Amino acid sequence: MKFADHILFRNSLTELKSILQDEKVFVIIDRKVEALYGFEFPYRKVYVDAGEDSKNLETVSNIVSELLKLGADRNCLLLGIGGGTVTDITGFVAAIYKRGVRYALIPTSLLAMVDAAIGGKTGINFNSYKNILGVFNTPEFVYDCSYFLKTLPEREFLCGAAEMLKIFLITSGAQFRRTVKFFAENKQFTFDNQEELESLVLKAVKAKCKIVDADFKEKGSRRVLNLGHTFAHGIEHAGVEGISHGEAVSIGTVMAAKIACRLDYCSERLVKQITSSFEKVGLPTSTDVNVNLLFEAIEKDKKREDDTIHFVMPTSLGSVRVEQISITHLKGLAQGL
Ligand SMILES: NC(=O)c1ccc[n+]([C@@H]2O[C@H](COP(=O)([O-])OP(=O)(O)OC[C@H]3O[C@@H](n4cnc5c(N)ncnc54)[C@H](O)[C@@H]3O)[C@@H](O)[C@H]2O)c1
Repeated sequence: MKFADHILFRNSLTELKSILQDEKVFVIIDRKVEALYGFEFPYRKVYVDAGEDSKNLETVSNIVSELLKLGADRNCLLLGIGGGTVTDITGFVAAIYKRGVRYALIPTSLLAMVDAAIGGKTGINFNSYKNILGVFNTPEFVYDCSYFLKTLPEREFLCGAAEMLKIFLITSGAQFRRTVKFFAENKQFTFDNQEELESLVLKAVKAKCKIVDADFKEKGSRRVLNLGHTFAHGIEHAGVEGISHGEAVSIGTVMAAKIACRLDYCSERLVKQITSSFEKVGLPTSTDVNVNLLFEAIEKDKKREDDTIHFVMPTSLGSVRVEQISITHLKGLAQGL
């Protein structure tokens, strides 16, 4: 079964009750989302604080303790409800709890709807290194529903835009331009922009699924999805004050474009076009983090092979190139960006 077949696109929660009626459901939910939407989910629950600081072994251990207390057995279905941090944690817990139980996801942030909940990658951080512990684990279903977006703050909305722009920069210049226009004009989800946003989300998810289904375990072609993420993980590890994942991806993508230009894989015009697109949307495009600090995390990147890394660079709007590059060389290229 393809990953795309696991995704249900809906604009209300109506169908959920019948889907779950015969399941022993245990919900793992973001506390903030619980306060807003908890009444929609009358199941046994474990609460988690969202955010990168929670994506660790301590949270996993707390969840396992709670699941044991609540009596979750091997036939249960774990239902992760929240943004990308909660969906990543839920998939990981499901893979290890009692040697593995089934799970499903209800992403509630735009970033999780278009990216984190899509593709079966789960994981937690270790000693502040991103996603060092994790497994590929396919959920029973992902219930992608715009219903939750009405309460998403502007900043989180734009973080979702960053991952959408990343997906379209890899796959489609036309959808990239359409997404820039949408987010330049819309900073929040409203009834008036719902149709256009849902259409963009659908396109982004389908584009990601096509890549995922061709190479689920990321042995080759799926690597393109890491565009912007080599530097993003470095920025997140460096602990830049208050920076979120989507913002780090925006900066990391622009840095990847600048490096592509230094290597003659793209024009300066493309770099300017990409930078101004992210700026128009309202995303950051640069950081003053010291290169040495950035490379502390890049050197620990789980995708590193010996002294090399598969580095993804845009070559035009809608296409990228992956180059296996030595980390030392990359560090040299990143000086003064
Ligand atoms: N597994 C993957 O393939 C993959 C892909 C991309 C990103 N990720 C991971 O996703 C994480 C980032 O996800 P995120 O940006 O969703 O972070 P998050 O889970 O921290 O959520 C962001 C914020 O939005 C709030 N929120 C969520 N839904 C809300 C709603 N409907 N209304 C109001 N507030 C809401 C959360 O409480 C939180 O404060 C990172 O850890 C990243 O590594 C994973």
